Amino acid sequence: MKGFYRLLIYINVTYSELVYKNSFIIIMQRQSLRFLSATISLLLLSLNPAKANEPTGNAANGENKIAMCIGCHGIVGYQSSFPEVYKVPMISGQTSKYIVNSLKAYQSGERKHPTMRSVAKGLSEQDMLDIAAYYEKHGTSTSLPEQASAAPEKVNNLLTKGACNSCHGANYSKPIDPSFPKIAGQSRDYLFVALKSYKSEGNTTWGRSNAIMGGVAKQFSNAELKELANYIGKQPGELQVVPQAKFR
Ligand code: HEC
Ligand code: HEC
Repeated sequence: MKGFYRLLIYINVTYSELVYKNSFIIIMQRQSLRFLSATISLLLLSLNPAKANEPTGNAANGENKIAMCIGCHGIVGYQSSFPEVYKVPMISGQTSKYIVNSLKAYQSGERKHPTMRSVAKGLSEQDMLDIAAYYEKHGTSTSLPEQASAAPEKVNNLLTKGACNSCHGANYSKPIDPSFPKIAGQSRDYLFVALKSYKSEGNTTWGRSNAIMGGVAKQFSNAELKELANYIGKQPGELQVVPQAKFR
């Protein structure tokens, strides 16, 4: 940044000199004007860092950062026993922005799951981006139906009440925003636990205080959430557990 300001000062000084020496021909002035406007747009860019240098993930680097994750997310059928027994979520094939968002939610405490909180605390922003880029491309892509299969009337009423497909997509695998998750085909028991966790408030070790999904999940009883989870978990999806050896 220092270098950049030095460059700016240098260019501006040069420009004033050019103007000062009125012996310069007009073309020269025009050129330096073009130069000045270029530095101004550079300055504007630097004032908007999100646009100028939005951080991106590198999947190849990510592969070197997942040794610890494999022990749970790389074993088919691996179960967690807190707060009840359910399968560890499938993250291969998940959208990278959602992976980063969920890791940040564990890091900040918005999501309270204790193990994932301590895992996420050890990750830098760049680690998260790299790991997410890796997992997004991990696994094999399948062609999915555009539309999820018709649900039984009772479940269909619940889906309509919650407008689930308006955010997660008509096949529950095409979220309208990349920071929203794909949920089709995710383990049913995990979906159920995740849905219930959005209803949990004021519990120090369990729950998710997400504003969007909190509002959605609180409209339903646990029995209804289970029906939703069972239906969505049965839909064909892109999420997978890709078995990986721990020591490669
Ligand atoms: C000890 C087992 C364990 C380890 C190690 C582990 N996870 Fe998890 N992970 C879980 C469990 C269990 C959950 C579900 C937690 C919950 O209910 O919110 C989870 C949730 C997640 C989620 C959210 C998934 C979703 O659909 O919302 C992401 C992303 C994730 N883990 C990534 C990672 C990464 C990356 C690593 C390695 C740096 C890692 N995990 C290490 C067990 C583990
Ligand atoms: C307004 C948009 C919106 C609607 C409507 C919506 N969701 Fe979500 N959903 C989200 C977002 C955003 C997240 C991620 C929240 C977070 O970061 O924890 C999410 C997360 C989830 C998760 C957790 C996924 C995981 O991997 O942990 C499940 C399960 C889920 N939604 C199911 C549903 C169901 C079932 C419905 C309908 C009853 C529904 N959603 C309606 C936006 C929506």
